[in-house]
Amino acid sequence: MPTPHNQAEPGDYAETVLLPGDPLRAKWIAETFFENPRQVNAVRNCLGFTGTWKGQPVSVQATGMGQPSTAIYVHELLDVYKVKKLIRVGTAGGLNVKVKVRDLVLAITASTDSAINRSFEPYTYAPFADYDLLSKAVGLAGERGYNHHVCGVVSSDIFYVPDGVNSYGALTSHGVMAVEMEASAIYTLAQRFDAKALCICTISDCLVTGDQIDSSERQTSLKDMVELALDTAIAV
Ligand code: HPA
Repeated sequence: MPTPHNQAEPGDYAETVLLPGDPLRAKWIAETFFENPRQVNAVRNCLGFTGTWKGQPVSVQATGMGQPSTAIYVHELLDVYKVKKLIRVGTAGGLNVKVKVRDLVLAITASTDSAINRSFEPYTYAPFADYDLLSKAVGLAGERGYNHHVCGVVSSDIFYVPDGVNSYGALTSHGVMAVEMEASAIYTLAQRFDAKALCICTISDCLVTGDQIDSSERQTSLKDMVELALDTAIAV
């Protein structure tokens, strides 16, 4: 097996890989959007698939939840499978009333409480999105009339924070509008391997108002996000 976490052979992944957290969402993306999908990984049920979108090769690989899990899959995709473009398609919690459930967030940068980037000390590294992917996605989101925000997110290691939105301290007064759990590691690793990365999230819940997306809306919003990610990937 090429890696302890991935049974795919070199060449099994396309240059572009979508990254949902949930393995069943990876399967849904492959079965719903890809032409001729084939499964390339099932180690630990962290499913990966390759197919085509509008005739172009694309893959999807689940990352699991959080940066330690994500960093394993992403490192191997970049290092072993020579992937060049990564687009996370996930959900995030809103930290600002301007960010409503169902809105899309395109993360221009990702702050974190994770220890992953502490090796940069004494510097505070600012992981950032690839400009080409970001500008293409922003253009398409505008053309399609999607409510979207280009902003900072926080990639937190803690889902169950003790003090709700207040747990994010000074970040929310410095332009950080959503919380998720993976973008910072993806952006850092993409830069390390000279690859492009973008994190797109659908707001599934708002920590300020308590609003939550319902299950029927979830599917439509995720569909818009996945199509946006795939069209961005093949255009850049
Ligand atoms: N916290 C972290 N990640 C999330 C959240 C949240 O509240 N909602 C969706 N992803």
